[in-house]
Amino acid sequence: MTRGHAPDERPVTVPRLRQMKRDRTLITMVTAYDATFARLFEEAGVDVLLVGDSLGMVVQGLDSTLPVTVDEVIYHCRAVARGTRRAHVVGDMPFLSWQLGSEQALRNAGRFLSEGGAQAVKLEGGVDAAPTIERIVRAGIPVMAHVGLTPQSVHAMGGFRVQGKTEETAARVLADARAVAEAGAYSVVLEGIPSDLAQQITDALEIPTIGIGAGPDCDGQVLVCYDLLGLTPDLKPKFVKRYAEFFEQGVAAARLYCDEVRDGVFPSEEFSFGKVKKDEATSSGLSLVQHVRPGYGPKG
Ligand code: KIV
Repeated sequence: MTRGHAPDERPVTVPRLRQMKRDRTLITMVTAYDATFARLFEEAGVDVLLVGDSLGMVVQGLDSTLPVTVDEVIYHCRAVARGTRRAHVVGDMPFLSWQLGSEQALRNAGRFLSEGGAQAVKLEGGVDAAPTIERIVRAGIPVMAHVGLTPQSVHAMGGFRVQGKTEETAARVLADARAVAEAGAYSVVLEGIPSDLAQQITDALEIPTIGIGAGPDCDGQVLVCYDLLGLTPDLKPKFVKRYAEFFEQGVAAARLYCDEVRDGVFPSEEFSFGKVKKDEATSSGLSLVQHVRPGYGPKG
């Protein structure tokens, strides 16, 4: 695999992601839920931004992803798309947003592209989801599949548990991965499975595999951005590496702000607009915003 590959400016597209697998260039993916975080990950050169239904847990404070709605994910998708220039944006289809029939599946999948500004949708499910994936793909909507630990099936799995740990269940996860690839998915997330199973699936499929809790031998990796940045202090799953401690830094910054306001230190002259000019009848006013970086901004 190509390591430490510096991304170029070209937009990341479906064909390009397939090519990255053929070139053995590892794919980077993180979740994002708003324009500011999207920009942060753009600057870092992340290839794929997933507007995951994990937003239910990290943004909305829920204990599962089940209550998240299509409208909610699309709302966040639009924000992420506005903060994105190069990265490939994927909208996550939430619980029961496609299972009611192909018409429902197609209508909802299409909304992620037409209203959310995404380039693809992600959908949890294996063999059972394959006919739906085929239908959506035939309509020209790229589908990223998701097998192994599928959080929307938390109750069927009896909790957020590693999947495919026995030969029998591993064979089932492999069959799921093959089915979604045959149905036309352009990539597949492998979540919460043993590393050797993930390697076997990665070797068996032509489409890129993106791992989370699936070891190092996938074609790419994904992390929930709040985990990566250390914004989830109460949660530290084994597969998560925190690359920053934003929560602690945020608490320290907010504490300092409170101290400075209470002590009358903030705002000082530096952060104030001075005095009224008594000799000027009219004033054009001072601009509140001093510097805006070009290249990003409202897209609708
Ligand atoms: O919703 C999500 O964030 C996901 C990733 C963890 C793959 O599905």
